[in-house]
Amino acid sequence: MAPPSSPAVLRTPEAFRAACDAARAAGARVALVPTMGALHDGHLALVAEARRRVGPDGFVALSIFVNPTQFGPTEDLAAYPRDLDGDLARCASAGVDAVFAPEAAAMYPPGDETRVRVGALTEGLCGAWRPGHFEGVATVVTKLFALAGPCVAVFGRKDYQQWRVVSRLARDLWLPVDVVGLATVREPDGLAMSSRNRYLSASDRARAVAVPTALDAAVRAWASGERNPRALESAARAVLAAACDRVEYVEARDAASLATLDDGPAVAPVVLALAVRVGTTRLIDNLVLGDEPSPLPGGVASTA
Ligand code: PAJ
Repeated sequence: MAPPSSPAVLRTPEAFRAACDAARAAGARVALVPTMGALHDGHLALVAEARRRVGPDGFVALSIFVNPTQFGPTEDLAAYPRDLDGDLARCASAGVDAVFAPEAAAMYPPGDETRVRVGALTEGLCGAWRPGHFEGVATVVTKLFALAGPCVAVFGRKDYQQWRVVSRLARDLWLPVDVVGLATVREPDGLAMSSRNRYLSASDRARAVAVPTALDAAVRAWASGERNPRALESAARAVLAAACDRVEYVEARDAASLATLDDGPAVAPVVLALAVRVGTTRLIDNLVLGDEPSPLPGGVASTA
């Protein structure tokens, strides 16, 4: 087999736009996978889905940009893992055609002052714990969509609220982008893959398995007929409280609108979303009850 060819590395917005335009002019469909790098198998699953969507003659672009506007002043922007050489090697093996890796000053040149704010979807869950985060995400994703032009853009449902926010902004702004959400890719013990997992010490990594175990507790409660949102949240919270250093939130919400649910029986689909700290590392995860099986190997399926 021929060695994988290296993707083109594009450093400026102009070069990225020109590459996407040229691909479309040559008859290719364009797919975009936005990332912040430190690529793992979850990201590569998005690349595989992107390729599946545009076909062997399509143009798959992956962006690597640690977006400063989505980090709060006390968050891990400076410490966020960066490994461009490793990422480029992974992109080559995965068959990515182009990597867009701009400098921050290219994405936010002097005088840049437009921000994109999506409404109620951004207010709870991570939005409540990370003020300004989704404005930063929505702004950079809108910039990426504007540069890429008509395309399919593949996101992970691991960042469930982000996926809903991006879908909404594409719809509300009539952007010519088909937003796809892909299921979460997990480690063998059920922990969702994340660039931030590399911050975990060995003992914190062992404790982090409480996250999929907590989701499993909710899946089991759902499978045994529990429909009260507070009881579903409590089933997960009990597991998290025993193992994590802080539980930021555990919430059952309407899976489509992310609306809060009152105490009456929940009607599927319901997303159970959570954020915790293990040591100093922030972990988020979720699953859709009645739709997704347990995150743990050999766990129960959660048919409603
Ligand atoms: P990042 O955290 O690098 O994630 C890039 C994409 O990979 C996101 O769509 C995310 O949901 C997806 N992803 C991460 N871990 C995954 C897993 N275990 N399984 C499936 N998909 C997974 O999310 C961002 O970057 C940024 O906010 C970004 C959208 C690039 C805007 O800056």
